Amino acid sequence: MEALVQQIENYKQEITTFNSGDAETFRIKYLGTKGLVKTIMGEMKNVAPENKKAAGQLLNEFKLFAEAKYEALQQSTTNNQQQTTNDTDFTLPGDNLPLGSRHPISIVRNKIVSIFQRLGFAVAEGPEIEDDFHNFSALNLPENHPARDMQDTFYISQNPDWLLRTHTSSVQVREMEKGKLPIRIICPGRVYRNETISARAHCFFHQVEGLYIAEKVSFADLKQTLYFFVQEMFGKDVKVRFRPSYFPFTEPSAEMDISCLICGGKGCNVCKHTGWVEILGCGMVHPAVLENCGIDSNKYTGFAFGMGIERITMLKYQIKDLRLFSENDVRFLKQFTSAV
Ligand code: DAH
Repeated sequence: MEALVQQIENYKQEITTFNSGDAETFRIKYLGTKGLVKTIMGEMKNVAPENKKAAGQLLNEFKLFAEAKYEALQQSTTNNQQQTTNDTDFTLPGDNLPLGSRHPISIVRNKIVSIFQRLGFAVAEGPEIEDDFHNFSALNLPENHPARDMQDTFYISQNPDWLLRTHTSSVQVREMEKGKLPIRIICPGRVYRNETISARAHCFFHQVEGLYIAEKVSFADLKQTLYFFVQEMFGKDVKVRFRPSYFPFTEPSAEMDISCLICGGKGCNVCKHTGWVEILGCGMVHPAVLENCGIDSNKYTGFAFGMGIERITMLKYQIKDLRLFSENDVRFLKQFTSAV
């Protein structure tokens, strides 16, 4: 009995000075199933019968003592946590969440669209999976026409008549078919070509095409519209020239060049030392195209044009490799701001 009293005294001492861990460590060491309190309770069986009552009281008291210490430890842990919470400095600046930025192609597309909207053009959109008629035949590109070679694309295996559109001219066809005149639209969108991917070509890219059909629309209207566009897009100092060209859906057809933005027209690698860079194709809508779409070509005339957004973006920002647009490297993409 004496030894038990001494042992309990020692444990009490130990517990009072316990500072080697948190409440949970204490619980496991003293109050757990294999803890000291349980173990010492087991000593009861060795106590002589006449001392059992006193020993029981002593042990119970010891158990309460240990439990009180555990509660005190728990309390101080909570207090510490609250202390930490109260220590939060709400005046500190918040965490920096990285903000995304618009893709350069979207920035330039929006700019192109807004320039033409100011001239009264409305945005028209159409499907990326097209049929042969809207992408080719209606545009004076019948099957086996050699000009189809310039626009090879991807065909849909379920139906040989379906393909991924090669230009957004197909949207012009859809708009003309509606028969509501006059028409003044621009068609921004993604297009596809079966091209080997390189710095200058990709199997998909983006275009904005335009179409204006009304009575007495002339080539002069076409030129004036495109002059306005170029000046708004690239600034007043940029020079413009038209070169005769060929597209099956326009007659006459032209390609439009602007003076090179890099060398100012003196000649450099970008303009292949000519001082000019081509930015779009255009022309007066071919009467056969109007008739294919149910428009009276004796009454109505119109002009159309089409440009690649990637090309305009590369000129605007002096980007040399088309692949950068689709690699999704954030280090590249975050360099562009909406203010162009
Ligand atoms: N669709 C032509 C292409 O993708 C570009 C083009 C040229 C569109 C002349 C036109 C146009 O509307 O009149 O190469």
